[in-house]
Order: sequence, then C-alpha cells, then structure tokens
Amino acid sequence: MPKKKPVVVVTRKLPDVVETRMRELFETRLNDTDRPFTQAELVEAVRTADVLVPTVTDRIDSSVLAQAGPNLKLVANFGNGVDNIDVVTANNRGINVTNTPGVLTEDTADMTMALILSVPRRLAAGIKSLEAGEWAGWSPTWMLGHRIWGKRLGIIGMGRIGQAVARRAKAFGMSIHYHNRRRVPTDVEESLEATYWDSLDQMLARMDVVSVHCPHTPGTFHLLSARRLKLMKKDAYVVNTARGEVIDENALIRMLEAGELGGAGLDVFEHEPAVNPKLVKLENVVLLPHMGSATMEGRIEMGEKVIINIKTFMDGHRPPDRVLPSML
Ligand code: 8YV
Repeated sequence: MPKKKPVVVVTRKLPDVVETRMRELFETRLNDTDRPFTQAELVEAVRTADVLVPTVTDRIDSSVLAQAGPNLKLVANFGNGVDNIDVVTANNRGINVTNTPGVLTEDTADMTMALILSVPRRLAAGIKSLEAGEWAGWSPTWMLGHRIWGKRLGIIGMGRIGQAVARRAKAFGMSIHYHNRRRVPTDVEESLEATYWDSLDQMLARMDVVSVHCPHTPGTFHLLSARRLKLMKKDAYVVNTARGEVIDENALIRMLEAGELGGAGLDVFEHEPAVNPKLVKLENVVLLPHMGSATMEGRIEMGEKVIINIKTFMDGHRPPDRVLPSML
C-alpha cells in the first residue's frame, strides 16, 4: 500500500510553483484567499495537520501549541525569523520547527542598502516634491542630503545578512563596524576590514549609520532602547530590515521628531501591520511594508526550502533547517 501523504496546512498564499509542488508531494491545504488565519483558524489547523506551514503573520504561541493534535510533528516556517513561534514550547511538546535561512540573505541585504542610500540622500523627499509639482528646476542648495562614502556603518548582528550588508557597504566606501554576540572569524573580519565592538553602547556613539540585523528574541527586545538611541550622534541614521521589536519605536519617533537623529529607514515595525501615524508624518524617514525578502526568486527558494524540510522530515531524517531553542 502506498504511504499516506502527510496533511500539510499552509497559512498564506505561496508562489504558484511552490503550491503546485506541494500539492504533488503532500495532502496540502492551501489558502487561496491569502487572508491571514485568525487564532481560531490556527488552532483548527494545528488540531488536524501533520505539518503546519506558517509565516511571520501567524502567532504560533503556547496557547495554540497546547491545542495541537497528536499528528502535528512539524512547524515548517516560511521565513527565516522564528519569533512568531514559541520554539521552546514546540520542542517540549515534541514538535519540530524549521525555517528558511540563506535564500533571503542577498535580497534583504539589497533592500538594506537601498535604505542606507535613500535616507541620507533624501529619495522619498525628492520623489514627493516632484510628484507634488514643486520642482522649480535645479538649484545648487536645494534637496541636499549627505554622502555615505567615507562614513561609518555600525551593524548590529553580524550573521549572514549583516555580512552581506557589510560587503555591499564596503563597496560604497563605508567603513564597517559591528557588534555581535560572538566575534566573527578573523578571515571574515579581514575581508570586510570590519572593526568589532564588544560594547554596543560605545559603537553606537561613533556611527553615522546603524543597521539592525539581529533576530528578535527576548534578549534583543528593545535592544535599541531610548537610552541607547540617545547615545547616537545627532545626525546619525537608523536602518532596520530585521524586526521592529528590536527598536523602541516610540523612543525613535520622539527623537526623530525632535531632530535628535538624522533619519530612519524602516522596513519593519514594532506592531505590524500597524504603522505609527507619527512615523508616516516625518520627512526624514523612508518606510517600507516589510519588503526585505520580497523577490519572486527569493519567495520561490523559501518555498523550496520549506518543501525540502517537510520531505526530509517525513522520510525520517533530520530536516536541514531545524531550529533548536539553543540556537536562539
Ligand atoms: C519573510 C522575514 O518574508 O524571513 C524573515 O524572517 O522577515 C521576511 O523577509 C517573512 O518572515 C515570511 O514569513
């Protein structure tokens, strides 16, 4: 008798090629409308599924996991960050968690670089003024921003994405500084000509641009607190393509409003999908709706990773992208 296919519940609409392959391999329940699941729908999904495929918009917390049926053995996240999942509780309940690292590194680094360029060079202000018909012609002193060449970039979190940003920024003439839990290998530091700062506080005080690339964990919640943001130079810029929760957003807004920072480029927010209206009103910001990994290629490769993780697990092997609590 052929082996029964696992029931795989996918919470959001994925690229067509990914959904087609999933349908071939598994008994897949897709979400054609792409409407995010309610908590009640998530509970229903974990009750009946062998495998759940959530995204950043699904909160798989202990109360959801407590209601998981006996068949749920894998939560295969469509995404790199797993802060939407209570990994410890899942692990304790014998439910494996996987993610999709690696395939969104370059796209997210590109988007970070776009923000690092667009905030100091005032891209949003320029576009708005042109669209509003305000442009009266070239002027030597109008729309002046600041150059990034020769400036210091402080990277918080020197993992895959942090390093990919460092490579790009170096090519743009920035000097690379970083703070990380662990120092990266010497050859990596040397190739990036990167300076390691054991003290985040000391690094912050000296940077022209600070870019966040650490995961959101209990330990990094509001890592850029009001106190730390105040350490930064008055004309420095903050860029965040990681997770909104890493920055105290209210404190950041207060400082931007008061002119105590140069500006901010944000792709992520503390209470997504809500964006604080005060942020939208600011002139010295570029705000994007969580688009860091939003390329067709990236999303297909993320889907392929999800499929490999499920298939490997179902074949009785350790899935390649297993996330353990000790890795957080
Ligand atoms: C993803 C991300 O699109 O993978 C991540 O951690 O932040 C995003 O780029 C999203 O998480 C998908 O679930």
